[in-house]
Amino acid sequence: MKDAAPQKIYLSDYQVPNYLVEDVHLTFRLAPEATRVLSRITFRPNPDASSKDFFLHGEDLQLISAKIDGAEVTPDLVVGGLTCAVPDAPFVWEAEVEISPATNTALEGLYMSNGMYCTQCEAEGFRKITYYPDRPDVMSVFTVRIESDLPVLLSNGNPVTSGEGFAEWHDPWPKPAYLFALVGGELINHPDTFTTKSGKEVELNIYVRPGDEGKCAFGMEALKKSMVWDEEVYGREYDLDIFNIVAVDDFNMGAMENKGLNIFNSSCVLASAETSTDMNFERIEAIIAHEYFHNWTGNRITCRDWFQLCLKEGLTVYRDAQFTADMRSEPVKRIEDVIALRARQFREDNGPLAHPVRPDSFVEINNFYTATVYEKGAELIGMLKTLVGDAAYYKALDLYFDRHDGDAATIEDWLTVFEESTGRDLSQFKRWYEQAGTPRLAVEEAYEDGTFTLTFKQSTPPTPGQDQKDPRVIPIAVGLLNPNGDEVVPTTVLEMTEATQSFRFEGLTARPTPSILRSFSAPVILERASSNAERAFLLAHDTDPFNKWEAGRALARAGLVEMILNGAAPDGAYLDAVLQVLRDDSLDPAFRALALGLPSQDDLAQTLVDQGHTPDPQAIYEALETLKMAMATHMQDVLPRIYAQYQVTEAYQPDAAQSGARSLANAALSLISRVDGGTAAQAQYDSADNMTQQLAGLAALLTAGKGAQAVATFYEQWKEDRLVIDKWFGLQISLADPAQAAEVAEQLTQHPDFTMKNPNRFRATLGALAMSPAGFHRADGAGYKLLADWLIKLDPLNPQTTARMCSAFETWKRYDSDRQALIAAQLDRILAQDGLSRDTTEMLTRIRG
Ligand code: PHE
Ligand code: ZN
Repeated sequence: MKDAAPQKIYLSDYQVPNYLVEDVHLTFRLAPEATRVLSRITFRPNPDASSKDFFLHGEDLQLISAKIDGAEVTPDLVVGGLTCAVPDAPFVWEAEVEISPATNTALEGLYMSNGMYCTQCEAEGFRKITYYPDRPDVMSVFTVRIESDLPVLLSNGNPVTSGEGFAEWHDPWPKPAYLFALVGGELINHPDTFTTKSGKEVELNIYVRPGDEGKCAFGMEALKKSMVWDEEVYGREYDLDIFNIVAVDDFNMGAMENKGLNIFNSSCVLASAETSTDMNFERIEAIIAHEYFHNWTGNRITCRDWFQLCLKEGLTVYRDAQFTADMRSEPVKRIEDVIALRARQFREDNGPLAHPVRPDSFVEINNFYTATVYEKGAELIGMLKTLVGDAAYYKALDLYFDRHDGDAATIEDWLTVFEESTGRDLSQFKRWYEQAGTPRLAVEEAYEDGTFTLTFKQSTPPTPGQDQKDPRVIPIAVGLLNPNGDEVVPTTVLEMTEATQSFRFEGLTARPTPSILRSFSAPVILERASSNAERAFLLAHDTDPFNKWEAGRALARAGLVEMILNGAAPDGAYLDAVLQVLRDDSLDPAFRALALGLPSQDDLAQTLVDQGHTPDPQAIYEALETLKMAMATHMQDVLPRIYAQYQVTEAYQPDAAQSGARSLANAALSLISRVDGGTAAQAQYDSADNMTQQLAGLAALLTAGKGAQAVATFYEQWKEDRLVIDKWFGLQISLADPAQAAEVAEQLTQHPDFTMKNPNRFRATLGALAMSPAGFHRADGAGYKLLADWLIKLDPLNPQTTARMCSAFETWKRYDSDRQALIAAQLDRILAQDGLSRDTTEMLTRIRG
C-alpha cells in the first residue's frame, strides 16, 4: 500500500494520541524473507483525546491475523496503516505480521546486513516491523522475545532469560517505538564493566562481526569516559544493568541511541591505529559520547513530536561538543565545529532548503535530520548558556531533568525551564527556533575622547516561506586590543536585542582594535569593513584563539578573492603572517595546522556570491592551487624543519597531543609535496605504521601527481577492509584533477568493490564527487549527470540516502545560467522518474523551488 499524493504535516495540527499504550510484548521468529512478528499490546483510551478513532501505523507488513481481547477481528487496511473498531475501555490488541528483512534495502525497520539482523526505527521505521501508534509521544515498557538459532540475540533493556534458540529482554523504561532495537547474528563481543557513581555495576559490550574484534578497544574506552563525564558534568547516571553497542556495516546515518542497545554504522565505532585516522578516532569518540548522552537527552526525556527534534539533537550535539572540548582542546574543537557549521549549516540556510531549527511543516521527517536541526540547534544551546551563565545553565538543566524525566517534551517546555529557573524572558530567544536564515551582523566603529563605540545592525535575508524576520537576541563576545597588541578590555558579552544597537567602552587611552564575536558566540555572519593590516594584527595578537584563527582565515579569503576576481598574485602579507604563525612554537601544533588551512572552494563560492559575483568553480580551484604553491615556496625553508620537528616517535596514540603534532607535520607535508616532487610523501607512505600517516602520504602523493603506484599498493594491502577501502574510493575522487573527477568517479562505480547497497561506499564515491566543487560543477555537466544517474538508481532501493545526497544541488542558484540550466535538467529528469520516493521528491521539489 503506497500513499498517493505526499502529505504535508504541520506542527500546528498536533493532536494528542487517541490511545495510550500500557505494555508491549513482541515475539520475533527470525527468518530472512519471512520473519514473523507477534505483538500483544495493551491500549487504553486517552482521556485527553477528542476522538475515539483507532489507527495504527503499518508499512510493508503482511497482516496474518489480529485479535482484540482474544477475539479475531478484521481491521480495515488503509494508506499507511489500519483502523479497527475497538472497545471504549482498556483492551488487548494482538497481531501477527510477516516481514522480509533480507529484501529490505531501505535500511529502515528490520533488515539484514552481512548476515546479521538489525533494526533502525528512528524516525518512523517501527511501522515496518508491526502495526503500532508509531509516534514519539506514545511511550511504553517493552518485553521482547527473539526466536532464532543465531548465537547473539539482543534487544533493549535488561536480559530476562535465554536458552537454546531464544532470548528474552525487558526494558523497564517507558519509551517511544523509535527507540526500539533488535539485533541477531554471529557476533563477537568485546566486554567490559562500569561502576556508576552510586555503585551500580553495569555490563558493557561492543558486538562486532568476526574479524573486527581488534577494533573495539578505543570505542569501549570512549564509552567509559562518556559515562564518567555525564556523571561529573551533568550529574547523569546510567540506568540499566547492561549497555550494548553493535556495529553494522549497512547503515544510513552515523549511529542510533536505542535504549540500552545503540546501533552504530561500523565506520563510527570501529577503530584501530592501522586502519583509522586521527580524525576518525576523534569522530568515533564524539559519536559514542553523543549516543550515550542521548540516554538522558533523548531517551529519558524524549520529543513530543518530530518537530521537536532539535530538543534532543541540538542539546546532545552541544553536550558531545563539550565532552570533546574537555577530552581534547577546547579552541581546536570550536574552530573545527565552526568550519563545519559554515560549510553545512550556513550553506543550507543560504539556499532553498533553509528551514527553522524547529521546522513547522514537513513531508518526510527523514529529510529534517539536517545541519540546521543538529548543528545550529547546538549553537542555540551554546548561546543560551552564554546568556544565562554557566551556573544558571546547569541549574536549569537539573530542573529540566527533574521536571521532564519520562516526558515527551517540547521546545516550550525547555524554554519554560530556563525562564523559571533564571527569571529571564526568553520570548525573543525563541525566534532562533522559529526563524530560518543566518543573521547578518554589520558593525560600525567610532572612537572619540577615550570612548569606543560599536554599533551593530542585524538583518536576516528572507528564506522559503519566511519573508520577514524579527530581530533576535544575539550574544556578542567582544574584547579590545590596544595598538601595541595588549588586551585592554577582556572578553565581555554584549547582549544585542534591537535591530540596531550601540555599545560603549569608556576610559581608553587610544583607539583600540576590537575582536568581535569571540569563540564565535553566535551563529551569524559578521559584516565588518576591515583592512588586511588589521587582520594581520589580530592574527598576531588576539588572545581569543578562535578569533586569532578567524583573522587568518579572513586574510586568506580576501587575498583569494583578489586572485579570483582580478588575477592578483598571492598576497605577500598573508604569506608572511601564516609563516609567523607556523614558526611560533608556543602555539598548539593543532592550532597551527588549522591556521595553515585555507577556506574551502564552497566557502569562496559563497563569499563571491555575497559580494555580488557569479562564482566560477574552476577559477576558485585554480586560485587555491596557486596560493598553496606560493605558500610552499614562500615557506620552503621552514616547512621541512616543522615536518621533522613534529614527527611522533612514541607508539601511536590517538590523543590530542599526538594528533595535533601529526596534523601540523602533515599540513607541512602537503605543501612540501608541491615542490619536492613527492619524495617526502613517498618516504612517509612507505614507512607509515598507522593510517593517519599512510593516508596523508597517499594524499600528498596524489597532490604531487605521483600517486598511481601507491593507489595500487594501498588497494592490495587493504582490499579486505571495507572501511579503509571507502577512504581509497573517496580520496581518488576528491584529489583528482577537476577535469577528470567525473571520469574517475564513473570508473570507480565500475569497480567490483563498488556497491550502491552500502551507504558508506555510495557516499565515499558519489558523495566525494558532489563535495568536490570544481569537479562536480564541470562546465559540460558531466558531474551533474553522473550523480543524477546514480541517484535515480539508488532511490528505489534506499530513498533516505538518495534524498540526503540531493543536497549536492542545493547551491545551484549561485552559478551561471548555463550551469543552472544543466542542473535544472538533471533535477527534472530525476523528478520525472516513475515511483520516485516521497523523500527524494520532497527534497528535489524544495531545491527546484
Ligand atoms: N538519532 C540519531 C543520532 O543523532 C541519528 C539517526 C537518525 C540515526 C535517524 C538513524 C536514523 O544520534
Ligand atoms: Zn543524536
